[in-house]
Amino acid sequence: MNQNPENENSRKSRFGLILHLHPRKMKASTLRFNLTFGLGGMAALLVVLQVITGLLLKFHYEPSPENAYNSILNLQESLLFGRMLRSIHHWSAIVLLWITFLHLLRVIFTGAYRKPRQSNWIFGLSLIILVVLSNFTGYLLPWDQLSYWAVTISTSLLAYIPVAGSFIREALLGGQEVGQATLTNFFNLHTGIIPLLMVIIMGYHFWRVRKAGGVILAEKDKDSPMIDTQPHLVNREFVVAMVLLAFVFIISSLFDAPLRERANPSFSPNPAKAPWYFMGLQELLIHFHPFFAIVVFPLTVLIAACRLPYIRLEDTNQGIWFLSDKGIRSAKFSLAAAIVLTVLFIGLSELLPDPELLLPSVTSLITKGLVPFAILSVTFYLFLKYIQRKFSLNRSEIIQSVIIVMIVSYTVLTLTGIFFRGAGMNLMWPWQV
Ligand code: HEM
Ligand code: HEM
Repeated sequence: MNQNPENENSRKSRFGLILHLHPRKMKASTLRFNLTFGLGGMAALLVVLQVITGLLLKFHYEPSPENAYNSILNLQESLLFGRMLRSIHHWSAIVLLWITFLHLLRVIFTGAYRKPRQSNWIFGLSLIILVVLSNFTGYLLPWDQLSYWAVTISTSLLAYIPVAGSFIREALLGGQEVGQATLTNFFNLHTGIIPLLMVIIMGYHFWRVRKAGGVILAEKDKDSPMIDTQPHLVNREFVVAMVLLAFVFIISSLFDAPLRERANPSFSPNPAKAPWYFMGLQELLIHFHPFFAIVVFPLTVLIAACRLPYIRLEDTNQGIWFLSDKGIRSAKFSLAAAIVLTVLFIGLSELLPDPELLLPSVTSLITKGLVPFAILSVTFYLFLKYIQRKFSLNRSEIIQSVIIVMIVSYTVLTLTGIFFRGAGMNLMWPWQV
């Protein structure tokens, strides 16, 4: 017990903010690092870092096609630490995307999306969408060849959304093509609307964690003794924060944020590629009808993600990564199978004759959309039935395997798009691209 009331008061004021975010006391088992890996806290810190560096960049940046590129050059060359500031904003945006994604995986794998945390799962989904949108809207701002054409390619995909597609695209671009109106829209979204929404949702997100009685714990850990949050948790969070900041600062001092030549709307690079996080979709577009690649697949994943907390599961075991050895074996098997099957799919799609040319009288919505989608769905279903039998899995474990297959497949598609597609988006070895 603290004997000195003065010390106690100064300690309270020093940790006032932190203790608003945390309860005064917590279960000792919450400290186990591999329960959360501190990923949610890291994401929060990176958002704060983005807001601070973003505000500083805003002093110097001019959102017009004539001046944007020069303002960045000027920032890098004549402002003390200008280059470093830009690099920190650039690299921490990427690290934030990775950390948020890993946090999502940890939530799935520890079963923390289930009741009573289901609303936090849904709001979490909106947070990761906002993180992607922040990255995407920021991408255009330097106004170099890379950013101009990546945004042109990505926004052109919107036109494939039925009925409202062209309207959404034009509203976002502020016209038919990427220009002043687009830059203004992206700038306002990037520096105003998206960060504001993010901060509000994050506030709610943290409050829900408190309402649920803290992070999820395994049954066996629920009776662990109560300890003071400060210093036990706060000190650990401080160490994680310092390591993360050091990592971002070191990367930023070693590698400058890329800047190509000024955007030239009349010269398209070949190939013009979307930002790396959308490359999986661009790759999918090569194999499927655009309606399926851009609408059906992403929408199916989104609907499935929203439904996830409401699937009835047999087990009540939460707070641990894998429920059993067979779950681990099935996860490894799914990982290997997803790599092999996705590579096989890309290879076959390349070697087999194009169904559009083979059956020119049938709409490509069927030959390159419905038919391959149906084949893929049936293969996926049979695969799940097979692993369920082979490893006698329960529903939680099947969900884990499904998620592994989806993530690994998207990763293979993304890597193919980034490293193995050259001019005309033809398959090539990375050293030829
Ligand atoms: C989660 C939040 C944020 C993310 C993920 C993010 C991401 C990005 C990215 C990827 C870029 C392109 C960087 C480059 O390669 O040059 C960028 C640029 C920029 N961002 Fe952000 N940003 C965020 C928040 C903010 C905020 C809150 C502001 C200002 C209030 C801001 C202001 C800017 C400015 C002025 C640029 C242009 C300068 C440049 O491109 O170097 N950002 N942002
Ligand atoms: C900017 C992005 C995000 C931030 C800053 C954030 C922050 C946090 C923090 C600090 C926690 C508590 C500690 C921890 O679990 O590490 C947490 C828990 C949680 N987050 Fe996030 N999060 C973000 C994105 C997401 C996403 C993308 C999802 C899922 C779709 C998600 C779902 C959850 C859930 C369900 C919990 C409760 C976990 C539990 O009780 O064990 N969050 N988040």
